[in-house]
Amino acid sequence: MDAADVAADLTEVLYTSDQIAGRLTEIAAQIDQDYADKDPLLVGVLNGAVMVMADLTRALHIHCAMDWMAVSSYGMGTHSSGVVRILKDLSTDLVGRHVIVVEDIIDTGLTLSYLMQNLASRNPASLKIMTMFRKPDALKIDIDVTYLGFDLPNQFVVGYGLDYAGRYRNLTDVGILAEHVYS
Ligand code: IMP
Repeated sequence: MDAADVAADLTEVLYTSDQIAGRLTEIAAQIDQDYADKDPLLVGVLNGAVMVMADLTRALHIHCAMDWMAVSSYGMGTHSSGVVRILKDLSTDLVGRHVIVVEDIIDTGLTLSYLMQNLASRNPASLKIMTMFRKPDALKIDIDVTYLGFDLPNQFVVGYGLDYAGRYRNLTDVGILAEHVYS
């Protein structure tokens, strides 16, 4: 599905699939350099990170492993509270591993902040963050992002793994969701 398929639901296309792919190629080249011979473990946060994980790992020229976590944030409606329940934990022991957490989007940062504390307590050799998107104006906590795709305006966006009510994850472009869809 691309932006033309859901044109009436979007007020603006922010990033096309080509722009996303181009940026991921640049980030992958940086990770190739930074992690040569480190055999990194990429940890994806379900469900949103599925697209970015699939495209980022295939753009790498080094070996890597992948594992997944599923978390649910206890929040009010669309607002994150930072209190997180782990629904699916990793199968991989992190001790001594070079870990890169792969995220779709950092909004308030509360979910990821909790997750980073949790992962750090498992004694990895290193722990970094790659996120495709970030909303700088929504951040409530300082998060040290090593690899960033794009910054976004503080609006509700869909596509490339980001959903509204379970839909639009398979939209290849990223756009601002029109108010009539959720009001
Ligand atoms: P945070 O704890 O506020 O950073 O929440 C992060 C999570 O909220 C992301 O992993 C997304 O699942 C969801 N989220 C935040 N902003 C958006 C958005 O604009 N569109 C879709 N999902 C979003």
